[in-house]
Amino acid sequence: MPKATVNILMVCLGNICRSPLAHGILESKLDSNLYYVDSAGTGAYHVGNPPDRRSIAVAKKHGIDITHQRAQQFKVSHFDNFDFIYVMDQSNYENVLQLTRNDNDRKKVSLILEEVAPNMHSEVPDPYYGGDTGFENVYEMLEEACSLIANKI
Ligand code: 4NP
Repeated sequence: MPKATVNILMVCLGNICRSPLAHGILESKLDSNLYYVDSAGTGAYHVGNPPDRRSIAVAKKHGIDITHQRAQQFKVSHFDNFDFIYVMDQSNYENVLQLTRNDNDRKKVSLILEEVAPNMHSEVPDPYYGGDTGFENVYEMLEEACSLIANKI
């Protein structure tokens, strides 16, 4: 069931690095009485796990606590329960699009960085195999995108 007036889902591959940050950042900018934010991964590898310690650390550095989040896999019912589905990269986009049932599902899905640079098809890079600077870089990209989303919805 939809949980609020406007429901927003952030999606990446593992739901432990990028989408938990997007989830925490956007949630921190919105009134929780009106907006519900969640996140999911297209893969099932990390279901039930907390975010990666490097995502937890970069969020904490910016005053956001994401330690309570637990990874879940994206599923078709998310199309029914969310109004906006933001994906991090082209691979996530293709994986989510494959599960769409109709145009209504399809129009909910977009690359999150299209909010910053429309029609550029920019991707939030997967920081999993890199160092801590990759996580800071991802944080800054998502902070900019989430500010724009919070201002428009
Ligand atoms: P995320 O990063 O999609 O931003 O959560 C990843 C986390 C784990 C894996 C890949 C990407 N993995 O292959 O386990």
